Amino acid sequence: MQVRIQGRREHYRTVAFDADRNAVLLIDQRVLPHEFKIVAVSDYERTASAISDMTVRGAGAIGATAAYGLAQGVRAFDGAEAAEFESHVASVYETLKNARPTAVDPVNAMNIVRSRMADGASINEKKTLALQAAEEFADEDVAHCRAIGEHGAELIKDGARVLTHCNAGWLAFVDFGTATAPMYVAQERGRAFHVFCDETRPRCQGAALTAWELSEQGISHEVIADNAAGYLMQRGEIDLVIVGADRLIAATGEVANKIGTYTKAVLAARHGIPFYVAIPLSTIDRELSSGSDIRIEERAGDEVLGAWGIDETGRRRYVRIAAPESGARNPGFDITPPELISGIITPHGIWDVNG
Ligand code: MRU
Repeated sequence: MQVRIQGRREHYRTVAFDADRNAVLLIDQRVLPHEFKIVAVSDYERTASAISDMTVRGAGAIGATAAYGLAQGVRAFDGAEAAEFESHVASVYETLKNARPTAVDPVNAMNIVRSRMADGASINEKKTLALQAAEEFADEDVAHCRAIGEHGAELIKDGARVLTHCNAGWLAFVDFGTATAPMYVAQERGRAFHVFCDETRPRCQGAALTAWELSEQGISHEVIADNAAGYLMQRGEIDLVIVGADRLIAATGEVANKIGTYTKAVLAARHGIPFYVAIPLSTIDRELSSGSDIRIEERAGDEVLGAWGIDETGRRRYVRIAAPESGARNPGFDITPPELISGIITPHGIWDVNG
């Protein structure tokens, strides 16, 4: 996506790789929209930490980061023993896999890298193949998002008012995004529309990231409190909902996405508003047989009990909202059943999960 930096527009990927430094390059999403900063992460353990602490977040972006992180870890191996190499690869894989549990994209991405490495006859060949596979995964993520945009744009009619939740935009992928991709293509096709961004407490990815992306892109939008969507739907002010996903269970059509997605799907059904989920193929889980088997990330309570922001001096600060003696429960994701989903926007077209 293009970003305005000191008056100039420049193109950036959310995740990239510097082969000379063996470093994963990440846009630091913790400081956006107040500061635009790229960090170079120098080893796979730090890459896993960047996923856990949400320097990088969003299913596709952490998928590409894990793929690069695996290649990074593999390339750092300096032994000559095949068995030692295989155990190193397994430990890099597990470290990155355990960084965050709910999105399936990191696992799918690393499985692709590993299976490509199997074609290498020597350790050196495997190292080369690992990086090639990670680069291809990142490029495919971009191509998938673009194709999602082409298929989904038809849903956004001139004058539409679209609700989205959290950030399934450019920053949640390598480029372009999923839920936002139809918006970008609709804009290219000359359509005028308005987007409501759920603020998405507790980490406010909607207010901080999606709204910033849309403003960089010149798309009309407003941030709404998480609790405002029902009121707007009741008044006929929302025509369409498009969200992303962290995991789609192929066997059932259930979707795991940022906490609050299920609530919006129930509200949309109540008001007869189409509710779409946009995903690349890396978000499909072909292993689990039920949404209740998905491990839902439970995050620290202080995210709910307070909020992060920038003070008047530009310093990033945490302010406490709740009483000091209150605790919190903080599940990061919820599961939306297929009967609440009008369709899944994929790179191959819009799928009906209830057919
Ligand atoms: O916790 P996050 O920010 O990594 O959560 C991911 C999300 O932003 C959402 O769940 C999003 O809608 C899907 S990620 C493409």
